[in-house]
Amino acid sequence: MARVLSGIQPTGDIHLGNYLGAVRGWVEDQHTQDSYFCVVDLHAITVPRDPAELRAKTLELTLLLVAAGLDPEVCTLFVQSHVHQHAELSWILECVASMGELRRMTQFKEKSSDAEESARVGLFTYPVLQAADILLYDAERVPVGEDQRQHLELCRDIALRFNHRYGDTFVVPDATLPKVGARIMDLQRPTAKMSKSADSPQGTVLVLDEPAVIERKLKRAVTDTATEVTFDPDKKPGVANLLQILAAATGRQPADVAEGYSQYGPLKADTAAAVVELLRPVRERYAELASDPEAVRSTLRQGAEKAEAVASGTLARARTAIGLLSRS
Ligand code: TYM
Repeated sequence: MARVLSGIQPTGDIHLGNYLGAVRGWVEDQHTQDSYFCVVDLHAITVPRDPAELRAKTLELTLLLVAAGLDPEVCTLFVQSHVHQHAELSWILECVASMGELRRMTQFKEKSSDAEESARVGLFTYPVLQAADILLYDAERVPVGEDQRQHLELCRDIALRFNHRYGDTFVVPDATLPKVGARIMDLQRPTAKMSKSADSPQGTVLVLDEPAVIERKLKRAVTDTATEVTFDPDKKPGVANLLQILAAATGRQPADVAEGYSQYGPLKADTAAAVVELLRPVRERYAELASDPEAVRSTLRQGAEKAEAVASGTLARARTAIGLLSRS
């Protein structure tokens, strides 16, 4: 079985992009791969957060992942900060990564563009912590959406450089993206990705949205003034996004889906119906789990223990390789 690791931030509310781009694939992976999934709370503090809210969101996201189908008895589900090796390996890797390669990260450029001087140092070094998350588990595959591709390239570069300089220490991972749904766009601004932090509530379908809300958001999705339904992400990004969502929800290809439509109205209605059905079981299961959050919380302890058993071995290897003297 290949080892798989991925993570998700407990910021904002999880949306259709997170679900189709990542979480849904994790649910499948857990049955065929040796899977580790973490709620990355250390990544969430790279911008200031309300402490009580961060704690609440961390638990809420864990419940949601279980509601989406992650089974803590089958995969290893844990909170990043519960396994201290992540922060420790991150420091070692910061001493391997270069300023230039971090400066090229588009996510840092986007998130700090207005105020680089006051951006937190952690926002800059964020991708190195992400590399530590992955390399600690000897992950061969990292299932993510398109927006994480660049961070995965950096992780590979860091692993290769470390191995070259200090001897074979880390497994060099590959990103795996879903064939359809790797980049779901904002419904109101279809040239921008759907995002937890975007100030576009009408453009973002949340996994926990009620059916009527999902229907309204999809009905009002921005398209264009023409009426022809073709899959052309450059010229018709709004329509292409709807086709992509409907295709991902029904296991088809967007271009094939387009052939069944000659007007936008029915396309929007069918996309809404498919998304409602896709998310319904997650929302219902979440409501059950939320009535007893402690039950899921206790599984996080087990998850952290399992994760730490692997992470401590890899960290020890990295410490030795780079020349840190052992305590005993
Ligand atoms: P995050 O929390 O922003 O997103 C979680 C996952 O959802 C995917 N995603 C999308 N997929 C398709 N369309 C979209 N509009 C969309 N928006 C988000 C993301 O690609 C991601 O797979 N840095 C990461 C978290 C992380 C991580 C890791 C991931 C930390 N350590 C180690 C993999 C391995 C992030 O902020 O994801």
